[in-house]
Amino acid sequence: MTNIAVFASGSGSNFEAIQQSIERGELQANIALVVTDKPGAYVETRAAKFNIPVLALSPKSFDTKAAYEQAIVDELRARDIEWVVLAGYMRLVSETLLTAYASKIVNIHPSLLPSFPGKDAIGQALAHGVKVTGVTVHFVDEGMDTGPIIAQTAVDVVEGDRAQTEAAIHKAEHALYTVALQQLFAGKVEAK
Ligand code: GAR
Repeated sequence: MTNIAVFASGSGSNFEAIQQSIERGELQANIALVVTDKPGAYVETRAAKFNIPVLALSPKSFDTKAAYEQAIVDELRARDIEWVVLAGYMRLVSETLLTAYASKIVNIHPSLLPSFPGKDAIGQALAHGVKVTGVTVHFVDEGMDTGPIIAQTAVDVVEGDRAQTEAAIHKAEHALYTVALQQLFAGKVEAK
């Protein structure tokens, strides 16, 4: 079984969707650890429901980003984690993690990259007036939502209705991440 860690900074709906896919037998993996950079984030409550351990570390309590990431890498190694799955982790990953988990870190982003990288991609898409936006799963590099694309799906914008557009994006995310992860873990996607 593939051991994975899910990283999240907020609500963790993608974390929960991945765990539910695992429980339904749609994804052959085991979430061995949830990592959050925001102690107290709602993802911790969701993880507790499934008895999944949480590593909650505030980067501010470390002298350097390298020291913060090394503390995470030590935990990942101790738990035999093979893949790092970012799901609403609102922080750039840097050299320490990227070197330790080369080609083994993936992210989900709520736009059709390379459009609308960074924060509030849904707000950016609405402000731009696009009619179609979507979701991207990609390998992580040192850039902001810039790594090689693994999977994408389009979502129609519901004009003038942010809540409905957001709900449609989240639904698409929850479906796409499971499929993309299953293909990755089965070795059906070439590592980049
Ligand atoms: C998701 O929409 C995810 O794509 C986005 O944060 C949200 C987290 O929701 N990530 C980014 O914007 C990364 N650049 P969740 O906590 O409910 O899974």
